[in-house]
Amino acid sequence: MSRTAEILRHATLDCHSCPTTLIEGYNTVRATSETLCEPLEIEDYGIQTMPDVSPPKWHLAHTSWFFETFLLKPYLKDYVEYHPDYVRLFNSYYDQVGEYHPRPQRGFLSRPTVKDVLQYRTHVDNAMQRLLAQNDHANWTDIETRTVIGLNHEQQHQELLLTDIKHIFAANPLRPVYRDLPQSTAEAAPLQWLEHAGGLIEIGADVNGFAYDNECPRHKVYLQPYKLASRPVTNAEYLAFIEDAGYDRPELWLSEGWKAIKEGRFNKPLYWELRDAEWWQMTLSGMRVLNPDAPVCHVNYFEADAYANWAGKRLPTEAEWEAVAADTPIEGNLRDAGYLQPQACKGEGMQQLFGDVWEWTQSAYNPYPGFHAPQGALGEYNGKFMCSQYVLRGGSCVTPENHIRPSYRNFFYPADQWQVSGIRLAEDVS
Ligand SMILES: [Fe+2]
Repeated sequence: MSRTAEILRHATLDCHSCPTTLIEGYNTVRATSETLCEPLEIEDYGIQTMPDVSPPKWHLAHTSWFFETFLLKPYLKDYVEYHPDYVRLFNSYYDQVGEYHPRPQRGFLSRPTVKDVLQYRTHVDNAMQRLLAQNDHANWTDIETRTVIGLNHEQQHQELLLTDIKHIFAANPLRPVYRDLPQSTAEAAPLQWLEHAGGLIEIGADVNGFAYDNECPRHKVYLQPYKLASRPVTNAEYLAFIEDAGYDRPELWLSEGWKAIKEGRFNKPLYWELRDAEWWQMTLSGMRVLNPDAPVCHVNYFEADAYANWAGKRLPTEAEWEAVAADTPIEGNLRDAGYLQPQACKGEGMQQLFGDVWEWTQSAYNPYPGFHAPQGALGEYNGKFMCSQYVLRGGSCVTPENHIRPSYRNFFYPADQWQVSGIRLAEDVS
């Protein structure tokens, strides 16, 4: 097994069950990124509203840089680099590749233009067609492995495109509409508490199909008996916390979160706005009256933890979450459902584990037992971020449907609100 294949040994495409070839998958994923940008005007492409947000144009270029850097330059004979400065402009954080443009200054890049970036994408796509046609290439296993990584990487950026466009439009007083989107008017199903017996379980990715290195190795975990809420916390439930002075009671908050509140960094979910005693929220369809039955979203870890304290419950661990999700069909309000906003829970039993909102867990984003950050620049993908972040599970209404699985570990810093993050409660069985 080659070094790259060994490093990312789980990054294989399960072509036996996949109806498309690698090249068809490549074309579909790449086209989807551009389709997601179709509602944008040219002026929207270069805006960066905070360091975490990247301009849409940068996402389109960076995902191309990934294929150029990790596939075309090492493996396509006679490949001609599109532009010598792009390696610096569109490298995100790979120190072993070289220096990179500062993240908070991505919005300074009025050039290259959108037209240039789209031409860069075409240049990369044409070269990738030539590379992927060479399945007799001496390094084909590496090429296949890295292409699958690149496509999953691009899907992650498709989600970021949507969350960043939302942030960009929310910062504009005109509150532009990205797309006119449907909205469910259903009432949220009553919350149930579903018990899990606990015991010795296994979590983590198994050997079939694609998974990131941070989901491996699969390993045993012992769980005490616990209960998991049947659905995420709704806006109405979270509003009760606010109206009970939730943000004014230090006993509910972690010290760091309380300090952030005192510094004025947050005092409600991101995108909530009180207008004439009525709560509204920014969505990808512009401003809408808050739907009380939909899951609360854009809350950070501190808010999720404080809410759980107020409710007399706790956040689940990632192992508790996965133990239940492992037996749950991967379906729900994911991006391809077309809502792009969390919707009210309709059913009984365990609901909405996948889609709607990423669910904060109380688990620190740490390596699993036996994990070693892989060697080489691609080893920087996940491992070096295992510090000071928390794990979120389940995907959201802007996660591509074929991108989520029970073992998927997302991770953000505890103060982050701009992802579509929500709360599912747990409790101990006494
Ligand atoms: Fe990236």
